[in-house]
Amino acid sequence: MQPLLDIRELHVAFSTDQGEVPVVRGVDLHIGRSEIVGLVGESGSGKSITCMAAMGLLDDNALLRGELRWAGQLLQSQDDRVMSRLRGSELAMIFQDPMSALNPVKTIGKQLYEAIRLNSPQRLGGSELKQRAISLLKDVGVPAPDHRIKAYPHQLSGGLNQRVVIAMMLAGNPHLLIADEPTTALDVTVQAQIIDLLMELREQRGMSIVLVTHDLGVVAETCDRVVVMYCGKVVESGPVESVLQSPRHPYTAGLLASLPRGENGDDELTPIPGVVPEPHQLGKGCAFAPRCPNASGCCLSGMPASQLSETGQLFSCFSPQPVKPRQPHRAPLNE
Ligand SMILES: Nc1ncnc2c1ncn2[C@@H]1O[C@H](COP(=O)(O)OP(=O)(O)OP(=O)(O)O)[C@@H](O)[C@H]1O
Ligand code: SF4
Ligand SMILES: [Mg+2]
Repeated sequence: MQPLLDIRELHVAFSTDQGEVPVVRGVDLHIGRSEIVGLVGESGSGKSITCMAAMGLLDDNALLRGELRWAGQLLQSQDDRVMSRLRGSELAMIFQDPMSALNPVKTIGKQLYEAIRLNSPQRLGGSELKQRAISLLKDVGVPAPDHRIKAYPHQLSGGLNQRVVIAMMLAGNPHLLIADEPTTALDVTVQAQIIDLLMELREQRGMSIVLVTHDLGVVAETCDRVVVMYCGKVVESGPVESVLQSPRHPYTAGLLASLPRGENGDDELTPIPGVVPEPHQLGKGCAFAPRCPNASGCCLSGMPASQLSETGQLFSCFSPQPVKPRQPHRAPLNE
């Protein structure tokens, strides 16, 4: 079946004073209908830039190559008017900090009315707008919505503001929601509530979700597939159950080993040694080589090709992790 979002061989470089800096280097990403896909990787791996490219929201100094398709339609060939219609009514994105998406000097109601108007084919009257705004706030679990539409963002908690942002994004009934670290700025209990809300919305609306996160525990609980990025490349992808149970790429294995485990999350952690190289430091070999326990000479001189395992995992590595025997029930990654 044709994927909703189909990204092939995406390359993004930024033109800077230091020259051209490649930050996304040949990414393939396919999102099917009603699918929820986790996008993970350390800071700077190109997760947000990949998502921004799909939304047509890259900075002016970005140079893009590759193919981005929405329901078969080539996105790069669309003009600004078509792209802004697609954003909202077809695909929408929420960011880490809700305050960056809200206007501090406008009430929640006014901002919701604008989002509804933008995505509504016919002109709605004042009372219809208000009813629709209240109903969207109810959908995202904002208590006393008829009261809250009169509030300004600073009068609401971070968690409530993020719910409001999600309500604004739902105004156009998008088929795909890209949630870029939607909970990082929130405290732990609120984080869990926002993730639960996204899952409920996916259930009710059949929406697809790309969940960008650093939390593999959340990926294990919520996603169908996971895509692991490192230095602008997808190093491993596949069904969550297979990838997390028996990662084949040493980087995925390293991310899993650095997770807190045990009842209280107090077991010894094994962090990945070293740091992520800067984009301008990358050579022609595997970018993970300086940090990889399996690295050998060939890893420095060339790029490994992608291989597909029997469990549906696609990974690129000269010396992959051995396959682990299947466990009947996977224990939760963290509590
Ligand atoms: N406008 C820009 N000009 C130059 N470099 C940029 C620009 N925007 C982003 N970058 C660089 O692109 C790289 C990838 O950034 P990106 O934001 O996609 O990382 P990320 O995987 O989302 O990381 P994080 O987990 O920290 O959000 C980073 O090295 C970043 O500094
Ligand atoms: S290709 Fe080599 S350096 Fe890269 S992850 Fe595999 S073993 Fe490690
Ligand atoms: Mg990011």
